[in-house]
Amino acid sequence: MSKTKNSSKKELLDLIKDQRSKKKQKKFSGKFSDYLEEVLKDPGIVKTSHRRLYDAITAEGVEKLGDDDPRKVSIFDGEAIKTYDYFQSEFFGMEKVISKLMNYLRSAALRGEESRQVLLLMGPVGAGKSALTEHIKSALEGQRYFCLKGDPQRGEPLQLIPRSLRSVFEEKLGVKIEGDISPVARHLLLEEMSGEYENFPVEELTFSQRARRGVAAVPPMDANSQDVSVLIGSEDISKIDMYPEDDPRVLSLNGAFNVGNRGIVEFIEIFKNEIEFLHTIITATQEKRVPSPGKNDMIYFDGVILAHCNEAEWNRFRSEHTNEAILDRVVKINVPYILELNQEVKIYKKILSKADFSAHIAPHTLEIASMFSVLSRLKDSQKCDLLTKMKIYNGDDVIEQGRIKKVDIKDLKEEALNEGMSGISTRFIMKAIDNALSENERGVITPISVMESLTRQVKEQIIDEDFKSKCLEIIQKIVREEYLKMLESEIAKAFITAYEEQAQSLFDTYLDNAEAFTTNSKMKNRLTKEEMAADENFMRDIEEQIGITGSSREGFRSDVTAYMFAKMRKGQKVSYTSYEPLREAIETYMINSVRSMARIVTKSKTRDDDQKKKYNEMVKTLIDDYGYNEESAEEILTYASNNLWRDN
Ligand SMILES: Nc1ncnc2c1ncn2[C@@H]1O[C@H](COP(=O)(O)OP(=O)(O)OP(=O)(O)O)[C@@H](O)[C@H]1O
Ligand SMILES: [Mg+2]
Repeated sequence: MSKTKNSSKKELLDLIKDQRSKKKQKKFSGKFSDYLEEVLKDPGIVKTSHRRLYDAITAEGVEKLGDDDPRKVSIFDGEAIKTYDYFQSEFFGMEKVISKLMNYLRSAALRGEESRQVLLLMGPVGAGKSALTEHIKSALEGQRYFCLKGDPQRGEPLQLIPRSLRSVFEEKLGVKIEGDISPVARHLLLEEMSGEYENFPVEELTFSQRARRGVAAVPPMDANSQDVSVLIGSEDISKIDMYPEDDPRVLSLNGAFNVGNRGIVEFIEIFKNEIEFLHTIITATQEKRVPSPGKNDMIYFDGVILAHCNEAEWNRFRSEHTNEAILDRVVKINVPYILELNQEVKIYKKILSKADFSAHIAPHTLEIASMFSVLSRLKDSQKCDLLTKMKIYNGDDVIEQGRIKKVDIKDLKEEALNEGMSGISTRFIMKAIDNALSENERGVITPISVMESLTRQVKEQIIDEDFKSKCLEIIQKIVREEYLKMLESEIAKAFITAYEEQAQSLFDTYLDNAEAFTTNSKMKNRLTKEEMAADENFMRDIEEQIGITGSSREGFRSDVTAYMFAKMRKGQKVSYTSYEPLREAIETYMINSVRSMARIVTKSKTRDDDQKKKYNEMVKTLIDDYGYNEESAEEILTYASNNLWRDN
């Protein structure tokens, strides 16, 4: 073995030792009497399961959507919705769902009725229910808790205190004491400690799903294999002969409710199970007790019960009268698909960044894919077309006749109850992205290859004919046309050198003119200081781009001027992008000014020297400034020549 290897091996071993000794040092281990001292020092270590989970999540940070957050006004109707740092970097556009979830946990932590209810996440496939549940469970991972040593339920040590003493202890310790020790702990106490509970050993452990401490998951099971021992443990047959009947030493308390005591029990796809299997949930929630295997008394259980299912299963379950007892103990939170385009895009960015390939993803690719999934989830509206609705849901300003279209997001949502519970799933989109990627040897995907892949997948995989044709129409009409618009403006922009500066300068000039016009004054030329009247022709050229003509001009100009003054009063920089109608007018003006050149230069098979130079510069801008690579730039340009500027 080489020398360097030896030394690095030693280093690694030191790391292991170091970590182990740290772990050992800090963890408490002692008798119940020592534990009491710990509680006196910090009563906060005594927590119910819901409180512990709530604290673990909120400890990472809670914020309110600030006034300057554009989503606060445009998406949440001004509501100061709370956001939780613990979820922020992993989950997008789910603020409302998470806020409901946290409200449930908060009430449960305060020992409200919610602490006796199952939390059920219900939503369509791929909406993030499992991911959310996993993330909630991992909030407990590594958290410490004190428990009775040798107790398979890892019960709260304070449960040793007999009922008659509890109120005194509660007062002196400043905590609430709930529940009773498990039959196994009771047996240990009586047989091995002659009831002297102050000597009962107490240890500090950490929650760990893999080690089955405090976090348990119950997968769905079919009718033949489901066995309630998965939930409550069993009697160990090999020990039955060794001990008298009902002796707790024959119990194997290793069911989900035993393991998940003090923490979380998750029911994966809960309603795929037979109903009989779920009856323990009723007592677990309402009485906080679960049956014991054999003939022992019920066993105390304190844990967050978290379940998820999809809508069809929920409806089937709900329609059965006999299920009422369980239904009554469920807090259901809908987990719909994301309807906000920008947030949907973030989901794919996240998933792709976790995957292990280094693909080139051309600009707008994920946006185009997300546009398709979001549109497929929207219901038709009486108030606007689907694309407009999507933009409004995204908080974008939609310009109509020079004004920002006023459609209230709230009205749209009221009109379409239950929206987001059906449509294209995140997984469907991911598969299409993966397919597009695997078909390109150099690992390049573009909006074009994604649209192709989506189309193919829709044709192959969607069975419902109506939905299939709706999807195809969305891709081929709405998404494709929207993409062509984006593409045209992007190519045109790439033809204009220093696009941003030019746009800003046009914007400033327009503002000067509009102000002079509105206040009926002259304006000073910035260079020559000459006084001049407002340039009517220039203003009209800009205004025409967004269909402002005739008598509506005056109103538009004074709107712009008022807007600008308001901004300047607040000390904000007035960028050309700040007033959406004017931004659109200016961009369209600029794009139109190079359109024919862009078209000729892009399309022609033989270019003269000047055209060649222009073309190459444009490609360079696409690559250097806009994020394309050579292959993707070529692909979109070919697409543009074939689709955008058809020769009629
Ligand atoms: N809003 C979101 N934010 C971040 N990621 C999301 C969001 N919605 C879905 N995802 C991601 O989509 C993928 C699929 O989600 P998940 O498996 O949790 O769905 P599910 O609701 O459990 O579906 P199923 O009913 O099919 O089990 C996961 O990688 C998840 O991280
Ligand atoms: Mg799932």
